[in-house]
Amino acid sequence: MTKNDTPKLESKVVDAATIDRKKTKGQWEMDVRAASVGPDVVDIRKFYGQSKMFTYDPGFTSTASCTSAITYIDGGKGELLYRGYPIEQLAEKSDYMETCYLLLYGDLPNKESKQAFISEINSHTMLHEQLSTFYRGFMRSAHPMAIMVGVVGALSAFYHDSTDINDPAQRQLAAHRMIAKMPTIAAYAYRYSLGLPFPQPQNDLSYSENLMQMMFSVPTEDYEINPVIAKAIDRFLILHADHEQNASTSTVRLAGSSGANPFACISSGITSLWGPAHGGANEAVLKMLDEIGDKKNIGKYVDKAKDKSDNFRLMGFGHRVYKNFDPRAQVMRDSAHEILESLGVNDPRMELAMELEQIALKDPYFIEKNLYPNVDFYSGIILSAIGLPTNMFTAMFAIGRTVGWLSHWKEMLVDPDQKIGRPRQLYVGETRRDYTAVNKRGGRKDGASWSRFWSNKR
Ligand code: CMC
Repeated sequence: MTKNDTPKLESKVVDAATIDRKKTKGQWEMDVRAASVGPDVVDIRKFYGQSKMFTYDPGFTSTASCTSAITYIDGGKGELLYRGYPIEQLAEKSDYMETCYLLLYGDLPNKESKQAFISEINSHTMLHEQLSTFYRGFMRSAHPMAIMVGVVGALSAFYHDSTDINDPAQRQLAAHRMIAKMPTIAAYAYRYSLGLPFPQPQNDLSYSENLMQMMFSVPTEDYEINPVIAKAIDRFLILHADHEQNASTSTVRLAGSSGANPFACISSGITSLWGPAHGGANEAVLKMLDEIGDKKNIGKYVDKAKDKSDNFRLMGFGHRVYKNFDPRAQVMRDSAHEILESLGVNDPRMELAMELEQIALKDPYFIEKNLYPNVDFYSGIILSAIGLPTNMFTAMFAIGRTVGWLSHWKEMLVDPDQKIGRPRQLYVGETRRDYTAVNKRGGRKDGASWSRFWSNKR
């Protein structure tokens, strides 16, 4: 690979796997394709054509939905690599801008390319003035993620010159625009909730400093950047920049597979991220810690999390892929200690979180199910110490993840194997039946009482 060339999506057939159907004695041979690291895959693309059966995998627990060369996770080892680089090294030595470059363009930039990339991003940080007035249509009490979904989707109504996905120059422009504008969009959502004026981005500041300035400055005073906070935000963004085929990234890929414009695709990623099982967990963790309130209540909440009749889960615990530890959580915990200490903040929730972690890690339920703290467990404590309200936490995650979404969107568009995403299903509903006139129908006697249908029972 030459520098700055996006890696090619090539995989070799290295073996074959046979699928047998017992009753009919059908037998189908499928190619096995090799991964550069991690599990190989059984290529089942011809399976339906040959067997007239689908494969069944709700939640994609065993299914690779695409070929990718961006991010690798080894859940057993607790390893996360962006383009081959360990997350711990990037969090310690890199910065968010070069991490964006790495994810998008496949390699770390040299000095000149880094500077050129920063200048390019800086040239797109402002929002169209009319887009700023768009905010006024929202309630002041609107959740910032609701505003993010709306405003990012609305970018497609403002930047027509970068919506043609078949034009490489437009794809690049849209991607750079979104990376550049995301802090401005999120900061304005926050300012809007407070009724504060919208400040302009300042291009002499770094990405994270600029985000802080746009969120916290007031027009009546000079704003002094605290380098400790800027570093913590930068590290937060690096840790959230990508995580291979998670729910929001897969949503972006699925939306993009129909040829939807890039702004609409990223907006759909934001909607998926918002859920508490995904990026919304950072907000949910702090709400949970507030609800627990005191160490003496921890046992009660751990019991609730283990009780299957209760919908409550320990937020910030568990992960589909990590079954040993989440390397991002370890960096985040150290970062939380660092920031509390250097800001002199005494947040009792930190102690509560540490105690909860210890109790859960010793509990047979959590041990047996390999449930460990994930990236969201400590991140809220950092964001809260910085002065952000809880409802801004997932918006911060969205800022960091935008580059990951865009890298996958671009990778998908140029993948020769790319097809519109269209899962199949195992149909278990009614078989064909004939229409009957309304006065001849028996059946439901529940009139307008539809609530049973919406209950949690199946
Ligand atoms: N508390 C209590 N029980 C749990 C938890 C939890 N946090 N997470 C999983 N379990 C149990 C679950 O009930 C199930 O038990 P059983 O096998 O008896 O039915 C078992 O562990 C496996 O759970 P699952 O839901 O099948 O696992 P999954 O891989 O589908 O879900 C998860 C992963 C992250 C959605 C889940 O662990 C969870 O809901 N965690 C809490 C929310 C959270 O912290 N999300 C942030 C994820 S990391 C940030 C990101 O990248 O989005």
